[in-house]
Amino acid sequence: MEISILDSYEEISRRAAAIITGQLEKKKDLLLGAATGSTPGRTYDLLAEEYGRRPQLFAGMRVLKLDEWGGLRMTDAGTSESYLQERLLSPMGIPPSRYISFASDPADPDLECERMQGELAMAGPLDCCVLGLGLNGHIGFNEPAAFLQPGFHKARLAEATLQHSMVAAMERRPQYGLTLGVGDILQARTILLLISGPAKKDITRELLSKKVTPDLPASFLWLHAHTICLLDKDAV
Ligand code: GLP
Repeated sequence: MEISILDSYEEISRRAAAIITGQLEKKKDLLLGAATGSTPGRTYDLLAEEYGRRPQLFAGMRVLKLDEWGGLRMTDAGTSESYLQERLLSPMGIPPSRYISFASDPADPDLECERMQGELAMAGPLDCCVLGLGLNGHIGFNEPAAFLQPGFHKARLAEATLQHSMVAAMERRPQYGLTLGVGDILQARTILLLISGPAKKDITRELLSKKVTPDLPASFLWLHAHTICLLDKDAV
């Protein structure tokens, strides 16, 4: 994992957006794995600004939603779906044919994960996987556990995860998580791990100790050949 400590959230967002646009210049149909949450928000806004200047650059870009809050309605404000529609898909005019996404409330979550696994097998691997870091070290909804799962799965959400700002104030509560697996993440050609803010200090310190453990799922990124970790000063 290549670590870059930058001055501010704005700087990590600018660097991340520049890496993604640089990759798009080389591969027009780039498949972007898109995390949600507060950390990648500014990166997506900057990409949308770049789309305004160079729409052709984004004409083939594909997006895969990495994870979803299970049990919410797709249109609920807190879903990853609403987030990506608002921050990424609609500003960049990405049509459903270039978007791979979980349903948030499928009749059979395991079947929905199987469907997503099949979609990724056809479209993948991810060219670039944008990740945030959960306060408990999760990536996507791969939560700390005795063992990790390589593929898409229904996840039991940790208490800390249920307090996440996307859903903390929602009346309808997520029942579970839907996520791609750690194996799917590790097959991405490039991984961009974005970490910002003082709340992430403790978990970042643990991550930087390089102990690879399922208690800290993000530590598996140490095993990946091309992970770029962009941190701001507040997070270290
Ligand atoms: C949520 C999302 C993840 C995200 C993580 C960190 O659980 N499902 O995709 O990376 O939280 O979020 P934040 O960037 O808001 O700290």
